Amino acid sequence: VNVHDLPTPSLLVDLAAFEHNVATMAEAHPGPALRPHVKAFKSTALARRLVEAGHRGFCCATVREMEGMAAAGLGDDLLLANEVVGPAATRLGTLARSGTARVTAAVDSAATMEAAADSGVTEVLVDVCVGLPRCGCPPEEAASLADLARSRGLEVRGVMGYEGHLMREQPAEDKAAKVEQAMALLVEAHEAVGGDVVSAGGTGTYDCNRWATEIQAGSYVLMDTEYVPHAPAFRNALILWTTVISVYQPAGWAVLDGGLKCLGMDHGNPTVEGGQCFVVSDEHITYFPDGDRPAVGDRVRVVPAHVDPTVALHERMYVVDGEAVVDTWEVDLRNW
Ligand SMILES: Cc1ncc(COP(=O)(O)O)c(C=O)c1O
Repeated sequence: VNVHDLPTPSLLVDLAAFEHNVATMAEAHPGPALRPHVKAFKSTALARRLVEAGHRGFCCATVREMEGMAAAGLGDDLLLANEVVGPAATRLGTLARSGTARVTAAVDSAATMEAAADSGVTEVLVDVCVGLPRCGCPPEEAASLADLARSRGLEVRGVMGYEGHLMREQPAEDKAAKVEQAMALLVEAHEAVGGDVVSAGGTGTYDCNRWATEIQAGSYVLMDTEYVPHAPAFRNALILWTTVISVYQPAGWAVLDGGLKCLGMDHGNPTVEGGQCFVVSDEHITYFPDGDRPAVGDRVRVVPAHVDPTVALHERMYVVDGEAVVDTWEVDLRNW
C-alpha cells in the first residue's frame, strides 16, 4: 500500500525516525534501565518493538493499559505508575491474581495502599512527590507508608518519583541541577523505604537523571513539536496525514481535513509541513502555504504538538518507510 492510498485524516509513524528514537534511548538506557511508558503510544504492537529493543518492563497510566499489555503477552513486569482506588483497584487486583502479568502498583496514601492489598495486588512502589504537583506522598511519609504496606503483607519494591515539572527546564545546566535536587528527595525516601527500584525520569531528563535505576520515558518513541527542543536527540516520528479539501484563492489559504478532533491541542497548534498553521477547528486546519498554492486533493503532513493525547484519539497508526506503508499498529490500549 502507498501512503497516498490511505484514508485521511490518519496517523503515520515515520519508521526511520521511530527506529532512531528507539535505538538512541536503548543505547543510553539499555534493557531494564528503561521502563518505557505505554501512555505515550497505547499500542501493544508498538510495545512489542520496544521488547525487541531489549526492554521488558513497562509503565502504564491506566488499568486498561495494564490489562491490554498482559493480554498481549507483554506482562513480564508492569508498573501502574499511577494511583487507583475503588473499581479500578479491584480490576488491577483481578489482573494480578490472574497470573498473566507481574503487577506492581504505585501507592501514595494509606487508602491506595489498602486498596492494593484488599484487591490482591502483592507488589507496590511508594510514590513520592519530588516537586510535580500531582501524585506522590510527602518524602517524609514514605517510610511509614512502606511499613504499613509490609504490615499488610505487600512486597515493597522501592520508590517512584516523577520529576515531570522539570522536563522542560532551560538551560540544560539548570535542568540538571534541579533534577539533582528533586532526586535527592527520592534517594532519601528510598533509603528509608528499601527495595531495589528507584523509578523516575522521562524523555526530558533521560540524559541527566543519574539516580533512577530505571527511566520511565514514553514521549521519546514518537515525539512531538513541543518536546523536541527539550530532548533534541529524538525526532518527530508521528505525523497526521491530511488532504487539502479547499483552497481560497483570493487570500491564499488552504484547508485540511483534520482538526482538533484528531489532534491533542493542549500544547498549541500543530506544524503544517510546507506552510503556516493559521487556525485549527473541529474538523479543519486552515493554513497558509509557503510556496505554490496546493491543489484540492493534495496530501499534507502535519506534525502534532502533543503526542499522547493525539495518539489516544486514533484507532491505528500506519507505519511508513518513505511512501510505502509497511505496517499497521492498532492503538488497542485506548480508553479506560
Ligand atoms: C509517571 C510518569 N512517568 C513518566 C512519564 C513519561 O514522560 P515523558 O513524556 O517525558 O516521556 C510520564 C508522562 O507524563 C508520567 O506521567
